[in-house]
Amino acid sequence: MRMVNGVGIDVGTSNCTVAVVIDGAALAIPPFSSTAITAALAFAQTPDDPAKLAPSFVGVAEQGDWLVGLAAARQRVNRSAHTATGMKRLLGRAWTDAGVQDVAGSFCSTPSAGADGSACIDVGGIPRDPASLAELLFAEILRNTRALVEPFPEQCVLTVSPGFGEASIQALRSASQRAGWDVLDVMSEPEAAVVAYAIERGEVDGKETVAVVNVGAGTTHASFVEVQHARVEVTASEGEPFLGADELDTSFADWLLVQSNDDRGLAGVADRSARQRLRLAAQECRHALSRGEASTISLPFLMADARGQPVHVDQRVSREALERLAASWSERVLGVGARLRARMPGVQISRVLGLGGAIQMPLLARGIASVFAASVDDRFVRSPGVAKGAALRCAALRGKAPR
Ligand SMILES: Nc1ncnc2c1ncn2[C@@H]1O[C@H](COP(=O)(O)OP(=O)(O)OP(=O)(O)O)[C@@H](O)[C@H]1O
Ligand SMILES: [Mg+2]
Repeated sequence: MRMVNGVGIDVGTSNCTVAVVIDGAALAIPPFSSTAITAALAFAQTPDDPAKLAPSFVGVAEQGDWLVGLAAARQRVNRSAHTATGMKRLLGRAWTDAGVQDVAGSFCSTPSAGADGSACIDVGGIPRDPASLAELLFAEILRNTRALVEPFPEQCVLTVSPGFGEASIQALRSASQRAGWDVLDVMSEPEAAVVAYAIERGEVDGKETVAVVNVGAGTTHASFVEVQHARVEVTASEGEPFLGADELDTSFADWLLVQSNDDRGLAGVADRSARQRLRLAAQECRHALSRGEASTISLPFLMADARGQPVHVDQRVSREALERLAASWSERVLGVGARLRARMPGVQISRVLGLGGAIQMPLLARGIASVFAASVDDRFVRSPGVAKGAALRCAALRGKAPR
């Protein structure tokens, strides 16, 4: 019988990944059954399949059932008021937190103040505690892991961004525990990534320092992580918990509206479905511009403008135009790495490990390479390296570390 020795869970602002240590190796599994690949052991053949990245969405379906993952993400346009994502950004935060206020416009269904002043998300008009929404993600991960792998100890290690405060860590931990997990540890994302990297790299003599840079949907952080044999230690971190590619999508959508003769800006558009369609189109276009030099957005009759006239978004966008538009955003993002470098200028780094989907933007890859004077190693960018490192830590804590 194949034995699972550890589970690692990385709940991101927009995506979740889960890894298990099985037969001594860390492998990714699909987090939710809605993304499941039917054959129980299919994950063993394709450990880094992008299908193992699942949207951190929960929502209420028309019939009143809760939906998790892809099923919830699919209704973000048509039932946006019943669909929540970005819980990670609000966990353990007060509604009046300046960062929460800054990003409030980026959510699918609207954030609001809970009765106790905490930051909540309205789902179907009811303010929901982000931890209770995260609990639904954890419950589905537990159900799905049980279905895919047995026997299974139901213990896990979670990951958080560096700088995640104590209240946020506690909220994440208890959401997971209420869902039925026994949480053995909560570790930082860069540390987890380097644990997985150290296993991949194998035994080497001496000490090395890896710079780890994450630009995800909702957070940006940069860390120096020291690795010597199996010992991994974060020696310094800088981060912005309310700065991610979601912020660029907001300014890109605002720009697209101006190009389409509508100067209300995304926040001024009352039609939620239109807002979501525009955000999605902006995001897809941004992804296409990571690969190609130009892309087209076409959303005819997107909505009515303030005078009741139809707004048509029909734009050909070049990578150059996106990069101009992204200049101040990328300056903030790259500033995080620059602050880290400036704090410890003498540190010799062996490589720059990139995490987070947005690192695929050539503008960022170039900028990060210039800050650290080394090109970005992107082996973990779209792969569950962070979850794998957490799964390996979980196995080690259970006394089942792979050799
Ligand atoms: N090809 C691409 N080019 C540019 N950006 C991309 C690409 N693919 C994905 N992204 C962006 O990466 C982000 C998602 O990355 P990731 O899954 O690493 O974030 P996350 O873990 O959910 O968030 P965080 O780590 O900030 O909490 C999204 O904003 C998405 O638009
Ligand atoms: Mg992430």
